[in-house]
Amino acid sequence: MPESRVPRRRRFVVCEPRHFAVQYAINPWMHPDTPVDVALAQRQWHELIRVYRAHGHGVDCVEPVPGLPDMVFAANAAVVAGGRVFGSLFHAPERRPESLPYDTWFKSAGFDVYRPESVSEGEGDLVPTGRWVLAGTGFRTTREAHREAQEFFGLPVISLTLVDPYFYHLDTALFVLDDGADGGDGNIAYYPEAFSPGSREVLARLYPDAVIATREDAMAFGLNSVSDGRHVFISPGATALADQLAHRGYVPVPVDLSEFHKAGGGIKCCTQEIRS
Ligand code: ARG
Repeated sequence: MPESRVPRRRRFVVCEPRHFAVQYAINPWMHPDTPVDVALAQRQWHELIRVYRAHGHGVDCVEPVPGLPDMVFAANAAVVAGGRVFGSLFHAPERRPESLPYDTWFKSAGFDVYRPESVSEGEGDLVPTGRWVLAGTGFRTTREAHREAQEFFGLPVISLTLVDPYFYHLDTALFVLDDGADGGDGNIAYYPEAFSPGSREVLARLYPDAVIATREDAMAFGLNSVSDGRHVFISPGATALADQLAHRGYVPVPVDLSEFHKAGGGIKCCTQEIRS
């Protein structure tokens, strides 16, 4: 374990939950009859942004669009690696219109946007690790989109099959702790039972030293975390996982996004990263 883990400044894209709601059910967490406290959701989200900035990270905001209640989940709109933007094609018809305002934002920020031909939900399922892209399929993003992403980025894309509907996006079951930018191999944390047996074996081979989370950690959205290489912005409910991370020299920074769990999202879902 390094004496002291070194954070790297990140550039994030987010979208204020001004129109956030649970109006339809496209994952098992969503119950349109359960009320959402929009004022609390706003406070929780603004706290996340404050904490990111307090840790030195850059945060850009995309303007939210009325009638798109899931637009706060910025991670799903694209995946950016090496300055290249691979846009999204949402599985649910309700979310398809979200792609346009994000694409427009990326273009105005000086990026070209590749539009995938097959269903692909951005960083929800396509997780760049530095050396390759870990890619989820089974509920949303298709294997065809994994192939498109591999062609587009010129990075190996490693397909992993998700099997538990509560962990319908890869970023609900796995996150990158450090991307090896410091010359190391990089490492991840994940919940093995969210994956098919073969995919579990793949992860065990690639990351023999990974942090293994419990179902309780995963159900508390503990794997929907963001790491800067030192600080891990993490759901306060994932206590066992936070303890493990602290033992490995990371600094857990709890941020509570409980209102967003009602839509099936957490910290990472609200955070898109621009990797240059
Ligand atoms: N309600 C949204 C959906 O089901 C939540 C998206 C969460 N985002 C994520 N990156 N896992 O699509």
